[in-house]
Amino acid sequence: MVDRCICKRLTFKYLLEASKSMVQHGPTGERLVPLHALADKTGCGMGCGMCVPYLLVAIKLNKPRVPIMTVEDFEKHLGSPVPRCLADVPMLPGEASPLSAAG
Ligand code: FES
Repeated sequence: MVDRCICKRLTFKYLLEASKSMVQHGPTGERLVPLHALADKTGCGMGCGMCVPYLLVAIKLNKPRVPIMTVEDFEKHLGSPVPRCLADVPMLPGEASPLSAAG
């Protein structure tokens, strides 16, 4: 299982909590997680970048731990090519995250 950004020593549990205050609304009112803001605030994903696709899936699924995945697994979960850094994915729909449940 993968549960942290090793380079920055940040757990996904911490990053899920930290992202709660960063929710923005899209044009149709959908809730979005601004990943660039999360990276700016915490430094997550700004080292080797290996944690980035895992963090994206963790946020999308609202799970602090995700299994080791293949490229195909990532693309299935994310619906897009695997990003190498958070700057490549500035916003992530938060439908499945706790962020979407907040008022
Ligand atoms: S493990 Fe997160 S940037 Fe390296």
